[in-house]
Amino acid sequence: EKGGYDWFMRKEIFEQPKAVADTLLGRYDADGALTLDEIRISAAELRRIDKIVIIACGTAFYSGLVAKYAIEHWTRIPCEVELASEFRYRDPIVGPTTLVVAISQSGETADTLMAIRHAREQRARVLAICNTNGSTIPRESDAVIYTHAGPEIGVASTKGFLTQLVACYLLGLYLAQVRGTKFGDEIALVMEELAAVPAAISGLLTEMDPVLKLAADFADERVVLFLGRHVGYPVALEGALKLKELAYIHAEGFAAGELKHGPIALIEDDLPVFVVVPPQGRDMLHDKVVSNIQEIRARGARTIVLAEADDHEVDAFADVLIRLPKVSTLLQPLVATVPLQVFACELATRKGHDVDQPRNLAKSVTVE
Ligand code: M6R
Repeated sequence: EKGGYDWFMRKEIFEQPKAVADTLLGRYDADGALTLDEIRISAAELRRIDKIVIIACGTAFYSGLVAKYAIEHWTRIPCEVELASEFRYRDPIVGPTTLVVAISQSGETADTLMAIRHAREQRARVLAICNTNGSTIPRESDAVIYTHAGPEIGVASTKGFLTQLVACYLLGLYLAQVRGTKFGDEIALVMEELAAVPAAISGLLTEMDPVLKLAADFADERVVLFLGRHVGYPVALEGALKLKELAYIHAEGFAAGELKHGPIALIEDDLPVFVVVPPQGRDMLHDKVVSNIQEIRARGARTIVLAEADDHEVDAFADVLIRLPKVSTLLQPLVATVPLQVFACELATRKGHDVDQPRNLAKSVTVE
């Protein structure tokens, strides 16, 4: 059932183009309108929402961090993202005009479930983004957007994450449509770009040689850092989590803008640092991240740079270059995450770890 792959995880990484396409399927009609059937919260009510709170755990939480950038940009609704395990024991400010978005691949994560119960007690409206039909979290929510990733067996989330991103983008665009903060043609542009993502991921997956080669050199590494900015920051966090889970390496993700506030003290000779570079030209943060690469390299770091295919500004400062397809900034996590998944999977395989069942972890965390 692994379809010729050594691990479910690897199979699931390669299923991502289809998972993304399936999650987009049937949600955008020929007249240029988004229809999210399962939303079940009326347009009038969605227009009254004055705050969004996203709650989730682990990788799903990182998809929520990406969602915040997109949702606030497209809808102008303030959006917070919180770990479900923190939210459930706080006294959060939510009410009938708050939309709580619970993101969970399994739909059974105990902390996320308790967090939505906590939110509903305060009469918040709850929308689930979930991959598992009929699971508990969507059943206890007012509305649901299903991701159509198909079953995810590997403990490390891969296609679950990418499809959560897609669902978050769809939600953001839908809210923008309903509330009139974006016009049809602007929504159409993003939808067009999203529609091209599956092919972009397929192409990227055929160019993983530098990533596989890198994994072969990593057997003895004990510490790895990941840097990103804007939506690249959650990508850095996700890259680090994958390495922790699968390769049992101490890995940390940082917002590149925070370097001087502490993390740069960690940089020493030969320390491997992955850097996610925002798209070139169209993005003011690009140059700032390129400067960060120079700064850490001057202090001895080994830089592994993920940058767009024709971004040559990074060439001189990259010890290893991983090329990404061109997409707009907000959508870049859909492609930038993929090499990091492949890297963690490959490294763990080389270390002889059980990639699908990493030590101490369970696929769905149904206890706290
Ligand atoms: O099923 P969920 O999406 O609610 O699971 C949340 C986390 O437990 C999950 O994403 C976990 O962090 C993964 N093992 C990450 O690869």
